Order: sequence, then structure tokens, then C-alpha cells
Amino acid sequence: MKKIIIANWKLNGNLKFIKKYFKILKKNIKKEINYEISISPPILYLQYINKIIKNIKYLTLTSQNIDIHSNGPYTGEISGLMLNDIGIKYTLIGHSERRKFHNEDNKIIFNKIKSSIKNKIIPILCIGENINDYINKNSEKVCKNQLKYLIKNNNKKIFNNIIIAYEPIWAIGTGKTANINHINKIHKYIKKYIKRKEITNNINVIYGGSIKYKNAKEIIKQKYIDGLLIGNSSLNINEFIKIINIK
Ligand code: PGA
Repeated sequence: MKKIIIANWKLNGNLKFIKKYFKILKKNIKKEINYEISISPPILYLQYINKIIKNIKYLTLTSQNIDIHSNGPYTGEISGLMLNDIGIKYTLIGHSERRKFHNEDNKIIFNKIKSSIKNKIIPILCIGENINDYINKNSEKVCKNQLKYLIKNNNKKIFNNIIIAYEPIWAIGTGKTANINHINKIHKYIKKYIKRKEITNNINVIYGGSIKYKNAKEIIKQKYIDGLLIGNSSLNINEFIKIINIK
């Protein structure tokens, strides 16, 4: 797989913003880029953007959420079946903001992954420690526990087609990127852990947390880092273009 760069717009953007964003993107994206680029706008705009990006090579779409059900009496939800219907490739699952503001626990996250795989949407599972766990050197333990639940539920198969996003919570939106040694250490640990559990030898692990053009190159060039998940900097189209054009 090509390394992937995902733009997580979170709850930002509108039609005017989108038109301008993709006009500039189309003009400035190089013909041959080294990465797959996936845009994750608010779900409402997925279909609209899908039409705009039809002919742009390497560009895919990621949903920010998915429901555990495929259809039924679940007012306000969006299902994997529907995402698949309009050609969406990935969905974020278990982002720390959803764990915090929407009370998503391991069980919900596990069911969302199942629903996503059932509907042929590739899950991007977000994991990562908070500041206290980081200070107390518990980063590995926290990541392990977040993965353990999925493994315990005896669904090793789900790891065959999943991306893990390591996002230390203390680095998200704070301007404090984790240092490269720490990121490498955790990525290696996650890959080793998954391998040790005899799940797969090549799980893809991407990094997220205050990535800017300034630090993106060093991070994406690392052997154990398979891509980037970018929030704030992906909203600034000029900054984002610089990142995706990194050689
Ligand atoms: P950030 O967000 O780049 O603004 O830190 C990353 C994320 O939450 O995915």
C-alpha cells in the first residue's frame, strides 16, 4: 500500500470552503504524488465532494463516523451500507473526540469495526494515551489495552483489513507533536504486538497529532510510519498541498 495522508476536517467546512479548497487542490496537486490522499469532511458533504474529486488520481474519501447498524429505526445515524452505496473507502472509528464527547467505549468501537468490515468500508481505528499516561510512561500499555478488547473478542480476521491510527490525545490540536523517537517506539510496539498475537505481519499504523508541514516530512519518511492523520493543518489548503507534495 502507498503511504496514506488523511485530512480530518472534523466539524468544519461549508460549500464555499469546499469549492475553494478543491479548486486550489486541483491546480496544485502534482501529477505523480507519493501518497494516497483521503479527505474526511463532515459526512453531509461526502457525496458532494465525491463528485468533485472523481477524476483526481490518488484521492479517496473517509467518513468521520459509522453506525453499528446497517439500517433500521436509528434516527440520525449513517450506516456502512450507505457509505458503501456512495463509494466511500474508509471510516474513522474510535477517534478520541468521539470516545470523549460521545461516550464511545471499546464495545461500541468493536461493533463499529464489525459493521464497517461487513459493508466493505476499511476502518481506521484511532488509539492513543492521555497526558498522564504519557508522563507515567504508560503509552504502550494503553495502546495494548485498546487493541486487546478487539482481539479478546476473537475476531483476529478484522485486522486483515484495518488501519491503526496512533494519536496521542495530548498531541491532538495542541501544537505539541510527539517526538519522533516516541512515535517510532509506539508504532514498532503496535506492529510487534499484532504480530505476536499471530494476527498479521503487516498492519498499517499511521500517526496523528499536531502535524504541520514543518514536521510532516520527518514523520512520514520513517519506516514504521505508514501515513498521517491530519486535523488542523488539513483545513489550510496551502499547508496541506505542501504536505501532500512532499517527495
Ligand atoms: P490535529 O488533529 O492535527 O489538529 O492535532 C488530528 C486528529 O485529531 O486527527
